[in-house]
Amino acid sequence: MRTQVCIIGGGPSGLLLSQLLHKRGIDSVILERQTRDYVLGRIRAGVLEQGLLRLMDEAGVGGRMRREGFEHAGTLIAYGEEMFRIDFVEHTGTPVMVYGQTEVTRDLYEAREAAGGIIEFEVEGVTIHDADRDAPYVTWRQGGAEKRIDCDFVAGCDGFHGVSRRSIPEDARREYEKVYPFGWLGILSETPPVNHELIYANSPRGFALCSMRNENLSRYYVQCSAHDKVENWSDDEFWAELKRRIPGHVAEGVVTGPSIEKSIAPLRSFVTEPMRWGRLFLCGDAAHIVPPTGAKGLNTAASDVHYLFSGLTQFYELNDAEGLDLYSERALARIWKAERFSWWFSQLMHRFEDQTEFDRKMQIAEMELLRSSEAAQKAMAENYVGLPY
Ligand code: FAD
Ligand code: DHB
Repeated sequence: MRTQVCIIGGGPSGLLLSQLLHKRGIDSVILERQTRDYVLGRIRAGVLEQGLLRLMDEAGVGGRMRREGFEHAGTLIAYGEEMFRIDFVEHTGTPVMVYGQTEVTRDLYEAREAAGGIIEFEVEGVTIHDADRDAPYVTWRQGGAEKRIDCDFVAGCDGFHGVSRRSIPEDARREYEKVYPFGWLGILSETPPVNHELIYANSPRGFALCSMRNENLSRYYVQCSAHDKVENWSDDEFWAELKRRIPGHVAEGVVTGPSIEKSIAPLRSFVTEPMRWGRLFLCGDAAHIVPPTGAKGLNTAASDVHYLFSGLTQFYELNDAEGLDLYSERALARIWKAERFSWWFSQLMHRFEDQTEFDRKMQIAEMELLRSSEAAQKAMAENYVGLPY
């Protein structure tokens, strides 16, 4: 088999890149370790920046998102019984869109399938060969058979635990990491959301987030121990804990119901540099992770896709490798700012076991600044809606 771009990973980055390339007549094949249903069963991101909306439109898959997604003009920040709002539109002229990653992925799968795009599912033992030479190729096992594809470029879109980043020799990459001493326990429930905008809450018992997917599908999170297990939390315990962490008048309005999904996500900041090795380009979670506070994971994956897609079109349409040569530098310049924002917002909103009294005073002062300063709110809003690309 031969293709122009071999894409490893059929998550949102790989699918979006493949669909965008298809629109410009550039051929790609996606290799995905899981089944389609497994990928679509993962409940993840919910908040999309304008950059991702534009890319979905450009890929020809923005229709349902534009019809069914919900524009959010601001968000609420609670601390103890206090609550204030940050108005994104007032400060930046731009809202965000609430539309689940599951739906983004579903729309992309449907478009790839309608266009006859090749996605190989349940691939095992994916190995990248000769990425530092002129003629790379990728091998894998599938249904007991050994397979091979030759290509011009490999796009490593296979997430944090994928094979692509590890294919770059250790002495050719540098990794930066911060692991947070807690996780997020999240539930999805077929109940109306407690509020029409998201509420991020810092309470003495730890962080909580009230989010949603639509008018009858709520997504809630509470900070939990890094060692906690989903089995330790009944639905009733979850709802009780959530209500203790949000202001009393908000808690009164929470509509509870059975969870239809419950999972724990660890919190991590991670970046690998550079994001390119020869003809291998890392994209999305394969290259970087942010803690979820601020909803930047999928959105940074999208900005990588943008830079890589424009580098590849410049290469194929203009025979010019400049965009590919600058890919890592351009992507990382934006990534580090999203890393800073996610780290800052995580520090502000969580309770840390080793927090000293001084640290706590700093957190309160930071929160007071954000509540009272137009400039601080504008900076928060600019970052939340997404820095331009
Ligand atoms: P992934 O989604 O991880 O996709 C990688 C794909 O590669 C997977 O399908 C995997 O099966 C496949 N794969 C892995 N290894 C191999 C291999 N060896 N061979 C072949 N295939 C392989 N982000 C936001 O922007 N906003 C949010 O609100 C938000 N909320 C989140 C909430 C939670 C609870 C979590 C966990 C994450 C959240 N994120 C959010 C982050 C976001 O989900 C990720 O950043 C996003 O999924 C990254 O997409 P990706 O395609 O790069 O990687
Ligand atoms: C969601 C996740 C986030 O990390 C966030 O900051 C906002 C919303 C969500 O899953 O709805």
